[in-house]
Amino acid sequence: MSKVLVIGGGGREQALAWKLAQSEGVEKVFIAPGNGGSDGLIENVALEPTDVDGLLKFAEDQTIDLTVVGQEAASEAGVVDAFRAKNLLIFGPTKAAVQLEASKVFSKDLMAAENIPTAEYRAFDDPTAAAKYAKTRPLPVVIKADGLAAGKGVIIIEATDEIDAAIHKIMVDKEFGAAGNKIVVEDFLRGQEVSTHALCDGKSFVLFPSSQDHKQAFDGDKGPNTGGMGVIAPVSWVTDEHMRTVADKVVTPALKGMEKQNATFAGCMYPGLMIDGQTLKVLEFNARFGDPEAEVYMRLFDGDLYRVLRDCALGRLNPGQVKWQPGFAVSVVMASGGYPGEYEKGLPIAGLDEAAKMPDVVIFHAGTKRDGDQILTAGGRVLNVTTTGTTLDEALEKAYAAVDKIHFKGAHFRRDIGRRVK
Ligand code: AMP
Ligand code: GLY
Repeated sequence: MSKVLVIGGGGREQALAWKLAQSEGVEKVFIAPGNGGSDGLIENVALEPTDVDGLLKFAEDQTIDLTVVGQEAASEAGVVDAFRAKNLLIFGPTKAAVQLEASKVFSKDLMAAENIPTAEYRAFDDPTAAAKYAKTRPLPVVIKADGLAAGKGVIIIEATDEIDAAIHKIMVDKEFGAAGNKIVVEDFLRGQEVSTHALCDGKSFVLFPSSQDHKQAFDGDKGPNTGGMGVIAPVSWVTDEHMRTVADKVVTPALKGMEKQNATFAGCMYPGLMIDGQTLKVLEFNARFGDPEAEVYMRLFDGDLYRVLRDCALGRLNPGQVKWQPGFAVSVVMASGGYPGEYEKGLPIAGLDEAAKMPDVVIFHAGTKRDGDQILTAGGRVLNVTTTGTTLDEALEKAYAAVDKIHFKGAHFRRDIGRRVK
């Protein structure tokens, strides 16, 4: 019997744990730190994703067979390197490999070197030179802080006279701290954003079906960007040819480029794309599963996740073991009122049991905590209500029927998840 440790505390980690717990021979799945949704075989461990020593000690004491990194902060803190140094099996990118996500300069330079299609750009460590270049580019122009900035380090500039202030904010005022020591100035891309994921073992990979997140807070793609308000998979208009392009022109050269940089990539590679007709370009690389993308992928995944992730960590991925159920999966995120800005916490959530009993509904908790028998809100994105269906419409109908059963004060969700593609 095997024991697994999942690192992170969101809906993504609950979804991974849920699927891992269904694998043959898995007796226990720990999540560090987890949330109010852990139940049954899934148990929380009070350790932060960046507590390298604590996680290492826990894995040794509990004789964990496989650790799965959900949150990129753990990779950036060096958890994977530390586990590998002790011969503990872990799925996720090393500190060197996570640069693919954690440094936009690294990632854009890699794309340029490997001819991966992406927006035209230049990288700068000097604000004056950056502003000078930005003013020569067509509007809108995009300015990105180099480092991780909780999804806030991207500024889309519509007018030339906003350029100086935006660059100043990142590079001089250091609004995102050291993440703004360097910036990327890049051209704006038009089209629809699509998420793709590739499980990589360092040499080979297997692509997941396409998915589509809805990043803005409000219906009609209005309002501020969030971590993601809802996802559908697969995206019906994304063709096999698009996916071949992702495999041949994006993931294959990215893996090759990483190898050349001594940053062999093992883990989940998540290229975020902009697709406009046949034109496909990479907006960014993430070095982890998307959240809430993982929630829908786990609903569609049809195989033994423990075995697949273990084989990946061992460098012997067998793509034939990754299978998908037919049909569609969706996730509707229920967030705290005010998210992504200020919001209240500790509010009781009603209707969860009733919603969870509805056909094909699985609810993955994100920002929740348990207080006796009561589940309380504890974060911005609170719940992921996921469903499957033969058609996208069927999955969406079931998801919204379940969402309508769940109540907490100020609950906010989008009513138009999946409507963009119809
Ligand atoms: P990133 O962290 O690079 O994915 O950027 C965050 C979000 O900003 C993306 O999901 C897009 O919605 C938007 N964005 C980033 N780069 C561009 C670009 N070159 N053109 C248009 N939108 C962009
Ligand atoms: N769903 C967006 C992300 O995980 O970055």
